[in-house]
Amino acid sequence: MQIVSDPQQMQRVARELHRNGKRIGFVPTMGALHPGHLSLVKTARTQSDVVVVSIFVNPLQFGPTEDFSKYPRTFEHDRELLEAEKAEIIFAPTSEAMYPPGAKTTVEVTEIGDKLDGRSRPGHFKGVTTVVAKLFNIVQPDRAFFGQKDAAQVAVLKRMVRDLNMDLEIVVCPIVREPDGLAMSSRNVYLDPQQRKQALILSRVLNRIHHLRDHGENSATALIEKGKEVFAEEPAAKLDYLEIVNPDTLDPIVDVSKGALVEIAAWVGTTRLIDNLLL
Ligand code: PAJ
Repeated sequence: MQIVSDPQQMQRVARELHRNGKRIGFVPTMGALHPGHLSLVKTARTQSDVVVVSIFVNPLQFGPTEDFSKYPRTFEHDRELLEAEKAEIIFAPTSEAMYPPGAKTTVEVTEIGDKLDGRSRPGHFKGVTTVVAKLFNIVQPDRAFFGQKDAAQVAVLKRMVRDLNMDLEIVVCPIVREPDGLAMSSRNVYLDPQQRKQALILSRVLNRIHHLRDHGENSATALIEKGKEVFAEEPAAKLDYLEIVNPDTLDPIVDVSKGALVEIAAWVGTTRLIDNLLL
């Protein structure tokens, strides 16, 4: 496995791979890898000749009061995991290489990027689209693999790829969960044992909404109301939002019978968690 840190070197490698007719599959990550990330790598493995995984904790997508400095960084362990998955290349640039002095260009998906987490975390999706656009230009993938775990991120990135005519396919992979239902996340390491139990409230709310919809409830307002009742059973958690939206535009919808995305974000202690369900 090759570890590349210089963007220009990565571009040279990608160009050479394309010249040799290889299909590049790309999994962008911020590291602290867990089975959710590895599921993307496994899917990429089956659909590509060469798998590139990036590890870069992108400062641009963290707000000033967020967890950038304490975000877990576990490069050696990540390297071992990716070796075991037979990834060919890790692209792990420095912040200075990605954002050299004088960098003035950003990529922004308006409106969609201001919904859900984009509303709670102003500037977050602009940071995501800017870094992912750069990573796409550097790695030049044929396919890029993202998790349904970050459903709003998927909506924003799909729109960016469409609007800017980026020549690649976005592949979305299902949410990987712990046996008790908690969606896997690099941020779960922040939870102490008590908070780890409290965090189950997110998936419990979603399960309840799923159940009610399966029993004929199609009103988004009613589903949200019931979901909030369930959420109130865990007073230690603080709800940021519970919304039912169109999965492409992230606009609220009233009737879920034609499909919908249920998104929840909540604080457990000082840790912010998100989860979602596609109906
Ligand atoms: P990160 O949070 O490290 O996630 C990297 C990828 O793994 C994302 O596509 C995310 O949706 C996916 N993922 C995380 N947890 C998952 C789970 N439990 N099941 C399935 N997939 C999961 O998302 C980012 O990094 C960044 O915003 C990034 C796209 C790398 C840009 O900086």
